[in-house]
Amino acid sequence: GDFELEGIDYMFKIVMIGDPAVGKSQLMNRYVKNEFHMNSKATIGVEFLNKTVHMDHKLVKAQIWDTAGQERYSAITAAYYRGATGALLTYDITKRHTFNNIEKWLDELHRHADKNIAVMLVGNKTDLSSNREVPIEEAKEFAKEKGLFFLETSALDSNNVEPAFLSLLSQIY
Ligand code: GTP
Ligand code: MG
Repeated sequence: GDFELEGIDYMFKIVMIGDPAVGKSQLMNRYVKNEFHMNSKATIGVEFLNKTVHMDHKLVKAQIWDTAGQERYSAITAAYYRGATGALLTYDITKRHTFNNIEKWLDELHRHADKNIAVMLVGNKTDLSSNREVPIEEAKEFAKEKGLFFLETSALDSNNVEPAFLSLLSQIY
């Protein structure tokens, strides 16, 4: 939730990116509020939530930005990435096309974000692994090739959600 600025040592802006319906908003809700909504609607505009965490005896405030995975106006895109120090790039393990589009998202990052931005690749919806279309080994290999951190998660059952955000934050820190 929200905290006073007093006592904050660092402020990191994290952007949620990835195709529509991969679970960006629910990953953010799970991490910040420990909530999950099965009937989550497509995000309209830009929303953000703050989460303060202790790291190494310092207080770090993560400002997490979330927007729709569909095409946006480039003016919004530029503002969205401005000042971002980390990106959580999500695909859905049950939808091959959302993994195939990761390259497109990396291109967008290279065009609009700081070149030193930390990127965590996240394969979401492990609770639906019986419908898996993207093998974990393939994603691991891809992440290694691109120099990205990688985890599979489930916003529904909380699997790896906190580790994904914390690992991104510690990369920045
Ligand atoms: P846009 O805002 O349109 O870009 O989508 P989004 O990436 O924010 O997706 P959202 O979080 O709204 O989730 C889309 C749908 O997937 C919703 O029905 C969620 O309940 C569902 N969902 C999200 N995460 C999970 C998960 O880990 N497991 C399962 N089973 N469903 C999930
Ligand atoms: Mg959303």
